[in-house]
Amino acid sequence: ARCFAVIPAAGSGKRMGAAIPKQYLTLLGKPVLQHTIERLLAVAAVERIVVALAADDPRWPALPAAFDPRVMTAIGGAERADSVLAGLRALAAEARPDDWVMVHDAARPCLRPDDVEKLLAELEGDPVGGILALPSVDTLKEVEGRDIVATVDRSRIWRALTPQLFRYRPLTESLERALAAGATITDEASAVEWAGRRPKIVEGHPGNIKITRPEDLPLAEFYLRQQT
Ligand code: CTP
Ligand code: MG
Repeated sequence: ARCFAVIPAAGSGKRMGAAIPKQYLTLLGKPVLQHTIERLLAVAAVERIVVALAADDPRWPALPAAFDPRVMTAIGGAERADSVLAGLRALAAEARPDDWVMVHDAARPCLRPDDVEKLLAELEGDPVGGILALPSVDTLKEVEGRDIVATVDRSRIWRALTPQLFRYRPLTESLERALAAGATITDEASAVEWAGRRPKIVEGHPGNIKITRPEDLPLAEFYLRQQT
């Protein structure tokens, strides 16, 4: 099977609260989205990368990545899942049903090559796919209002990261059906789970953070520096 990538990059970064979307903020002299695309371009197995952008994104044309022959764009949608689906549809002419699609957040520029290799290796031959994830380090509480009602069994709880790697057809169909049914879909795995399948988890590196709030920016620079 061949391997493609989709990068949802159409968000507005509300929690960051910056003047521009967080994927265009600069880390170590380079926009977040440029870092992220370079991480996936470095993966030899990835034949093509679709970046889902906001309509009329004014900053995209200035990114060096926009000129890479392996990179193409699609227009994203209102929610992350809509953006991912737009990216998948842009691959419709090229991708076969069992080709792999690696979906990776634009806001995770610190992705390590080792993690990508591990994900590809551990899912090789799998009929569905799976995701990078991290075991929870904190004790987890179930809460009503501000009252703790239970302590969750932490050994069963993992935090979902990206990349998430799925076969093209099951992923596309799961997303289409789950969205049409109005299900809450926050990552690719949740759509595939909704469709009744069981994605695998592969333990990732804690440095693969999602840039969400201002405090994440120096942390991301720390992890990027570690790798250069
Ligand atoms: N994303 C997208 N299309 C959307 C919403 C999000 O492509 N309609 C992308 C973001 O650009 C980001 C990734 O999905 O790369 C993860 O989403 P998140 O961290 O929530 O980014 P934002 O939605 O931009 O941030 P916020 O939720 O704080 O507004
Ligand atoms: Mg969001």
